[in-house]
Amino acid sequence: MIEYPNRIRKLSGLTEGPIGSEQRPKPFSFSTVKNLWTRAHISKQMLAAHLDNASDLASRLTATIDATVAWINEQLGISNLSLCDLGCGPGLYTRRFAQRGARTTGVDFSEHAIEYARSQHDSADYLTDDLPHGVDVITLIYCDLCVLAPADRHHLLCRMREMLNPGGRIILDVFGVGALPETTDLTLEENLMHGFWSPAPYVGIQASFLYPDQNLSLDHFVIIEPGETWQVFHWYQDYTARTIEAELQAAGLHIETMAGDPCGAALTPEPNMIGIIRPRCLNWVSLAPGHP
Ligand SMILES: C[S@@+](CC[C@H](N)C(=O)[O-])C[C@H]1O[C@@H](n2cnc3c(N)ncnc32)[C@H](O)[C@@H]1O
Repeated sequence: MIEYPNRIRKLSGLTEGPIGSEQRPKPFSFSTVKNLWTRAHISKQMLAAHLDNASDLASRLTATIDATVAWINEQLGISNLSLCDLGCGPGLYTRRFAQRGARTTGVDFSEHAIEYARSQHDSADYLTDDLPHGVDVITLIYCDLCVLAPADRHHLLCRMREMLNPGGRIILDVFGVGALPETTDLTLEENLMHGFWSPAPYVGIQASFLYPDQNLSLDHFVIIEPGETWQVFHWYQDYTARTIEAELQAAGLHIETMAGDPCGAALTPEPNMIGIIRPRCLNWVSLAPGHP
């Protein structure tokens, strides 16, 4: 377990949250997902990361995206199906689904990403805003379920089920327990991650925490700027085949097929990845190889 040294507590000037506490933050006690993707400077950085084929920070590498789309098409035959890509980012998958004949809509709350993706994409929060209905296939790709608190995950899965046409399918991926880090870390650095967090000079703290009994980990960032100190909590819920099955079942979804990676590889006992479901739906669950 990491304890924040006093000098970091003083430097951060924070009076709330886990800084300076002797405890790990309570699981999912803080949610900053929206901030992470929509804060002006970060959303620009995220778009650059999406489009950088040498980085898998925001999207997987192009070859993996191509293989994933090919595999999904092989499984479902998406031509002429209506497909909604939740958390579509700049539309790297959505565009490829459309090229294979699907009638696509992408949904994302990052204006920056949506602006890049342009037509057929809606700027919306998939937890709270209206979503398309009468959909044949829903995709939620790059383990976006894993960063949400349990109640939000259940809420989103139920919303997704309601969006579907009879016989519709959900395709999503989640991190497997093989992705759970083995050690924790604490870094204090000027302009942490080379200016990723702010265009102005800042000091960044990154602390990682493990909750092995819950297959959960946290990357906690504290960004200290001259006029503002702010935090990002990035939770990663990792799954076994059994735990994802139980969570999906609770939302009325049943697994039809599971794969060991987003391109359809065989599932392993301690997977980094998993794949597919069926209620009246076929959902693909892939547990990704490691946290980016
Ligand atoms: C890890 S990226 C994956 C993007 C895309 N699926 C891909 O793999 O290229 C997660 C995306 O989900 C979006 N997102 C996260 N939470 C969201 C929410 N509640 N509503 C809408 N979009 C959301 C983010 O803005 C971001 O573009």
